[in-house]
Amino acid sequence: MKKIIALVMALLVVALCGVATAEDAPKIGVAIYQFADNFMTLYRTELARYLTEDCGIPAENIVIMDGKNDQAEQTNQIDSFIADNVDVLIINLVQSSSAASVIQKADAAGIPVVFINREPVADDMALSENICYVGADARQSGTFQGEIVAETENKGDINGNGTVDYVMIMGDPENIDAQYRTEYSIKALTDAGLAVNKLFEQRGDWDQTKGQELAATALSQYGNDIDVIFCNNDAMALGAYQAIVDAGRVVGEDIYLLGVDCLDECKAMVEAGTMTGTVLNDHIGQSHTAADVALKAAAGEKMEKYYWVDYVKVTK
Ligand code: BGC
Repeated sequence: MKKIIALVMALLVVALCGVATAEDAPKIGVAIYQFADNFMTLYRTELARYLTEDCGIPAENIVIMDGKNDQAEQTNQIDSFIADNVDVLIINLVQSSSAASVIQKADAAGIPVVFINREPVADDMALSENICYVGADARQSGTFQGEIVAETENKGDINGNGTVDYVMIMGDPENIDAQYRTEYSIKALTDAGLAVNKLFEQRGDWDQTKGQELAATALSQYGNDIDVIFCNNDAMALGAYQAIVDAGRVVGEDIYLLGVDCLDECKAMVEAGTMTGTVLNDHIGQSHTAADVALKAAAGEKMEKYYWVDYVKVTK
């Protein structure tokens, strides 16, 4: 009986993840744009855990490299993955604009590529049948941020001057996530019929320290005129929160603060009221989908071009 159960379990693993035994497991090369990124740390940790624990891929078959936010460095890492003959690549580009050259190299070597987190432009996605993108539609996250503000009791106009005066702290503007979150958060406010006024918009490159510096600058420049600080991610919102406290302002009483990702710290802050809201960027759903698709591609199955994972609005 035990043997039958074991066999059924093994078959289940094969069915779910496409891998039979350790010996014939595929070699997977994973290139992450920067290990120091809070969100991508959660993502790659879960990706590695899922591949090994749930899909039964031996740890030695998975190599995860830190691109250190340097495209030249990451290109070298991808070149060595190709030279090592990996069966599939999972790539979080440093610069989305490098997609075309990566696709050409991988195609020439017959290696499928699963792009994650930083979406290549549609023209590049059309270059090969053997690639896909797994991610979340950043328009949705921006829209949710704007809706959270529009749903507050004073519709975002916390100082009551008739307009929603906002500060926008952007991620790396080359990333579509930064572009769409910046655009769609404000679009949700105007779609709700609210008057908006941009006081300040600068790039914080997804970074907590930069988020704090920029928010401090904006707060000293515009003071009580600011109703809302939108941050394209939670790391920058954590920094902005520190600047808000340093400026003697109180979230929920005289200013609103928004992020995206739903890092554990930020979830706790939303519960405590020290952050107005965030948006869950589902690193679990995305990493599992990326792993499942990568294993299928490594086994020679055809991929869809896009796999989308939903964002979720997070308020108190
Ligand atoms: C996340 C950011 C992260 C970025 C990295 C975004 O989707 O929201 O926190 O820094 O991806 O590319």
